[in-house]
Amino acid sequence: MDKQYDIVAIGTLAYDMILRTVDESVFTRDTTVLDEVGISVGGGAMLSAIAAQRLGRKTAVVGKLCTDAFSDYCIGVLEKAGVDTSYVTRSESDTMSLTFALVRQSGDRHFLGRMGSNNRSLTPADFDLSVVTRAKIVSYGSFLVLPGLDQEMLRIFRHARQAGALTVADCANDSYSQGPETVLRCLPEIDYFVPSQVEAEYLTGEHEPAMMAQRLLERGCRNLIIKLGEAGCYVTDGVTARIIPAFSVPHVSDTTGAGDNFVGGFMAGLLEGLDLFEAARYASATAAVSITGPGGEGALQNKSQVLEILKQSK
Ligand SMILES: Nc1ncnc2c1ncn2[C@@H]1O[C@H](COP(=O)(O)OP(=O)(O)OP(=O)(O)O)[C@@H](O)[C@H]1O
Ligand SMILES: [Mg+2]
Repeated sequence: MDKQYDIVAIGTLAYDMILRTVDESVFTRDTTVLDEVGISVGGGAMLSAIAAQRLGRKTAVVGKLCTDAFSDYCIGVLEKAGVDTSYVTRSESDTMSLTFALVRQSGDRHFLGRMGSNNRSLTPADFDLSVVTRAKIVSYGSFLVLPGLDQEMLRIFRHARQAGALTVADCANDSYSQGPETVLRCLPEIDYFVPSQVEAEYLTGEHEPAMMAQRLLERGCRNLIIKLGEAGCYVTDGVTARIIPAFSVPHVSDTTGAGDNFVGGFMAGLLEGLDLFEAARYASATAAVSITGPGGEGALQNKSQVLEILKQSK
């Protein structure tokens, strides 16, 4: 069946500002001159959509922005990358999710953030649900920070799969105390579940990836990739399980958004025809490129960067 989009990425859209170098002494002075100010878009849907589009996939993003200058910036980046923004609602009454990352000399970061209501208030009423029938892959980033959508996702994933789409979901911290069941009950309708280690621990109460996998597979998880930061990722289809090591890069600038770029790369890999394990390797290479620059967006510009990293024998 011909689909209009390769990927429809539903979920969080945010704006990040990276302020470097900052330390505890800032309040002892009137003014601090920064070495670097970086602006980046953020949010699971935003970053994974941009990554996939830069890897050559026709992608649309579904989410909510506001009418402020931060949101204008986000739309500009999405459009410049070539992501279809027709399903992005612009709300006059919501506040935009913002994060200011204060980075110390050592690279440690402190985040000053405003959750914003743009993501919190996103519901199925904000978009035409039929968009999920027009994509080869429908992704959701991120479970547990979108309380207006989280409880609807079982129905939305089911709708997408009935129309022949593959479904992919990432997770985040349970900011609204919705509980693990919000995610666990959807696992049978998620073809590829891609949480981080901390999130998988929260969902299962287990501490070892193999045990987390066992618990998630028991609940109907089909294919699982647990992101383990610089330790790589744990991948299983329920039959075979493998750890795929992270790729090395000459200089790690900022790991913000590595997980979201990983998901974008993973989906692009699947669409290249790669199997679960090969797509996870492709995802790791995409994430490795993304951490070579500040913020979650910007370092990854094209597929050749990923192909170059893939030459490493990992
Ligand atoms: N220091 C690193 N060096 C190389 N690769 C890394 C490094 N940190 C992360 N990665 C790659 O990025 C992937 C995702 O990172 P991580 O596990 O931190 O995701 P995450 O917790 O979802 O991150 P975020 O939510 O901040 O985007 C890892 O599985 C790994 O492949
Ligand atoms: Mg993440």
